[in-house]
Amino acid sequence: MKRLGVNIDHIATLRNARGEFHPDPYFAAKFVKKQGADSITIHLRDDRRHINDLDAKNICSIKNLLVNLEISIKDEIVKNALKIRPNYICIVPENRKEITTEGGLNLRKNKNQIKKIIKKFKEKNIRTSLFINPSQKDVLISKEFNVDCIEIHTGKFANLVKSQKKIKNELDRIGKACKLADNLGLEVHAGHGLDYRSTKILSKIKEIKEFNIGHFIIGESIFLGIKTVIRKFKKIIKS
Ligand code: PXP
Repeated sequence: MKRLGVNIDHIATLRNARGEFHPDPYFAAKFVKKQGADSITIHLRDDRRHINDLDAKNICSIKNLLVNLEISIKDEIVKNALKIRPNYICIVPENRKEITTEGGLNLRKNKNQIKKIIKKFKEKNIRTSLFINPSQKDVLISKEFNVDCIEIHTGKFANLVKSQKKIKNELDRIGKACKLADNLGLEVHAGHGLDYRSTKILSKIKEIKEFNIGHFIIGESIFLGIKTVIRKFKKIIKS
């Protein structure tokens, strides 16, 4: 059974636009779970542009809610995340000027640092994941790191679907990376830029066990309400 993780960062973006308290990501986390999300994702960015430390701490204290915390490899963020104790972490690349996470991690460049971080979280029984490009080489390196899961960056694929360009090559790349990861015993997740159409196509890849979707869900909820949007995605990933 495939799972749906809902990224609620942009509830915080909206709150921060006014510098006040509404809409509250803590309430959103509880609400989204009630509507059928299997887990929620939050990204504690270096510049705290959406979720802040207090949000992360409060959200991770909600009982029976599975929280996936996205973190960079920066010492301060890793230290905070170890204190916050989410259920899951996903290590992502981070660049201050980017609008959103632009690609997967550079695994070669940061090999030792990433390995050490994974070890620290595994010692606390926190599920670990690496956000990687759909590359078989990166899957093989991830396996060496003793990580539990990999999340495939689907941004390029999602953009090809949106612009109605040819998707075959990128879909093949994703399929091959997923198959290899699954064969190596890594749990496979997928996320970034996904909407109904791109998720529907990727839901046919049986190795993908979890989708993490944020911006489109929050945006679409303006029109349909978050309950309906979550239900639609749950139906799509089951099909
Ligand atoms: N997965 C990861 C690892 C991410 O960094 C993000 C974006 O924060 C997402 C999924 C969700 O991407 P989007 O908001 O484009 O759906």
